[in-house]
Amino acid sequence: MKNSPNLQKTEHEKTLGLFDLTILGIGAIIGTGILVLTGIVAAEDSGPGIVFSFLIAALASGLIGLCYAELTTSLPNSGSAFFYAWVAIGKFVAFLAGWTLIGVYVTTTATVANGWTGYVQSFLEVLGIKLPHQFLVNPAAGGYVNLPAVLMIILMTIVLTRGTSESKWVNNFLVGVKLFIILLFIVVSVWHVNPANWHPFLPYGYKGIFTGASAVFFSFLGFDALATSAEDAKDVGHTIPRAIVLCLTISTALYILVSLVMTGVLPYKKLNVSEAMSYVLLSQGHDVVAEIVSLGAVLGIMAVVFAFIYAGSNILKSMSRSRFLPKGLATVNSKTQSPNRAIWLVGLASAVFAGEFDLHYLALIANIGSLMVFMLISLIVIILRYRYPELKRPFVVPYGKILPVLSILICLVLLVSISVKAWLTYLIWIVLGLIVYFSYSLRHADEFNFTED
Ligand code: ALA
Repeated sequence: MKNSPNLQKTEHEKTLGLFDLTILGIGAIIGTGILVLTGIVAAEDSGPGIVFSFLIAALASGLIGLCYAELTTSLPNSGSAFFYAWVAIGKFVAFLAGWTLIGVYVTTTATVANGWTGYVQSFLEVLGIKLPHQFLVNPAAGGYVNLPAVLMIILMTIVLTRGTSESKWVNNFLVGVKLFIILLFIVVSVWHVNPANWHPFLPYGYKGIFTGASAVFFSFLGFDALATSAEDAKDVGHTIPRAIVLCLTISTALYILVSLVMTGVLPYKKLNVSEAMSYVLLSQGHDVVAEIVSLGAVLGIMAVVFAFIYAGSNILKSMSRSRFLPKGLATVNSKTQSPNRAIWLVGLASAVFAGEFDLHYLALIANIGSLMVFMLISLIVIILRYRYPELKRPFVVPYGKILPVLSILICLVLLVSISVKAWLTYLIWIVLGLIVYFSYSLRHADEFNFTED
C-alpha cells in the first residue's frame, strides 16, 4: 500500500482477549459515577428523569466509542488519541492530545479515589471506627490531606507494576465484586419500588435532563481507556470494537436499572447523599446488605483507579517512546513488560491531586479534557478517511460521516455547559504543555515514518 502509516509495532506477547478487555473496560467505567453521583444528580438536576440523562450520556459515549473502535483497530497503538493525531494531523496536535489525556487520566484517578474515601468512611463508621477528619479531606474542606485516597492509589500503582497479565486477575476479581453489589442492590431494592415516587417524572423539565447528562457523562468515562490497551490485545480488529460496545451496553443497562430503582424506592429529593445505594437500603431496613454494598464499593472502585493509572502510563510510554517526552519514561520492566517509571509517575501525580484537591472540581477538569479529546477523535476519523483511504480498516463507523459529525456536535453541547473555572484550569494545563513542547518535544520528537511497500 502506498503512503500508508508505519505503525511502528513493537513485538511483545499479547495477553488480553475479549473477556479481559470487556472486564478491563467495565473496571474503568463503573465506579464513582454510578455509586456517588446518581443520587445527587437525581435530587438536584433531573429527578427520576435521570434515566434520560443516562440515555443521552450513553448515546454520546456510544458514538464516540464507535469512532474509537475505527481508529484503534486501524492503528493499534497504546498512544490512543496521541498516536491517531500524530498520524492524521501532525506533531503539535498529537502532543496536545497526549498531554490532555495524561491530565484526564490523572484527574479521573484522583476524582474516583476521592469518592472512594466516602465509602471507606461510611463502612468504618458502622463498625465504630472513626478516622481523624483532618486526614480524610483536602485543605479546601478544612483538612490536611485525603490520606485513604493517597494510600489506595499507591497500592494500586504497586499492583500495576507487577504487569498486566498478573494484575488482570486482581482487576477481574474487583470487577466481579462491583457487578455483584450493583445486582444485589437492584434485586433487594426492586421490591420496595413505589411507582408514586416516579411522579412527576421530569420535575426539572427537559433542561434538567441535559444538565444531568453532562454530569453523569463522568459515569461512562473509561471506555476510551480500552483504546490504550490495543497493543496488548489479541486479534485487535475483532476484540476491541466488541469490547467497547459490550462495556457500554452492560453499564448503560445497569445505570438505568439502578436509577429507576433508586428513584422508585425513595422520593428523588431524599437522594442527595454521596452513598445513595447504601442509604436506600438502610431506609428499607436492609442494614447487612447496605454494609455489604459499602464494602463492595470500597473494593470495586479500586478497579477504576487501576484502569486509569494503566491507561495514563500507556500514553506516557507511547509519547516517550517517540521522544515527545524523555525516553527513559518508556522503559519497560524486562520481566513484567510493564512501564514502571510511567506507572509511578501517573500514580504519584494522581495521589497528590487526590490528596489535595476537591472531588467536584477534579471531575469537571476530567470531563473537559475528555470531551476535547473525544471531539478530536471524531474529527480524526473523518480526516484519516481522506488522508489514507487505503488504510486497512477492520472496523468502519457506518453511515459515512454522519455519526462522527453527530459525535462532535454532542461533545460541543456538553462542553459549553462546563464552568469557566474548569476551563481556566484546563488552559493552565495546556500552557504548561506548550512550555514542554517548545522547550523539549519540538527538538527531540521523532518524525512520523511512512512506508512504501
Ligand atoms: N466512569 C468512571 C466512574 O464513574 C470514571 O468512576
